[in-house]
Amino acid sequence: MGQIIDGKALSLQVKDEVKAEVPALEEKYGRKPCLVVIIVGENPASQVYVRNKVKAAEYTGMESRLIELAESISEEALLGIIRDLNDDDSVDGILVQLPLPSHIDEEKVIDTIAREKDVDGFHPGNVAGLWLGKDCIVPCTPDGIMRLIDSTGIQLKGKNAVVVGRSNIVGKPVAKLLLDRHATVTIAHSRTADLGAVCRTADVLVVAVGKAGLVTGDMIKPGAVVIDVGMNRNQEGKLCGDVDFPSAAEVASYITPVPGGVGPMTIAMLMKNTIRCFLSRNKE
Ligand code: GUN
Repeated sequence: MGQIIDGKALSLQVKDEVKAEVPALEEKYGRKPCLVVIIVGENPASQVYVRNKVKAAEYTGMESRLIELAESISEEALLGIIRDLNDDDSVDGILVQLPLPSHIDEEKVIDTIAREKDVDGFHPGNVAGLWLGKDCIVPCTPDGIMRLIDSTGIQLKGKNAVVVGRSNIVGKPVAKLLLDRHATVTIAHSRTADLGAVCRTADVLVVAVGKAGLVTGDMIKPGAVVIDVGMNRNQEGKLCGDVDFPSAAEVASYITPVPGGVGPMTIAMLMKNTIRCFLSRNKE
């Protein structure tokens, strides 16, 4: 039976690191870092996520603001709010929770957030920075995944890493971070032929597709580290990941649970990114 990687405990450690930093930042710069979270509409999952993001910010002692907007808000009005926040010197981080209603162009929204306040690391400037190996804001979920992998003590250099999923939020950036650590990286996806065979090559397997129970124990190399990014509801309404936990845990050396794995780490890394934005803005 593999060991469970406790994302909740690790996220608390990261949040405590941030919490310890905030008073010194306030002392030095005369104000606390400030994160603004925007939610549009009433997607229940998004509401839970943003509530947890604001709660985490409160825990660390930084300033935070939640802006709740009606589903019917126009794209132009949302962009106007973002531009005002870009110009507001008391704001360090701006996060617009995705997905957005279909009448709003997500790309335009991401492009409008000032790069130096882009705590999600989704702005094209930050994406380019990541792929060019420059100092930049790294997306929270991939950054959290790397902390979870590192907590196992595995040395990534020369290992085979397989990432299942190719989203801009998780799959692509985590593949780049694994590459930076000298792993040999394969990106698999919904059209990959014989997904099981590809997954079985993985010493580290990251699954981020949003399909409950897609990866089963027979698709995992014995002793692999398994990171489950999925956040699905099964027929009984219970939260579950993309990995079939019982069968996978039999084979893996380490495995993240859902809930309590990647989710809390994403939020903890958002706190870190807010501090980074605060510091880089104060250096200017
Ligand atoms: N929706 C799901 N994950 C994320 C995330 O990391 N950031 C934002 N802004 N929206 C999301």
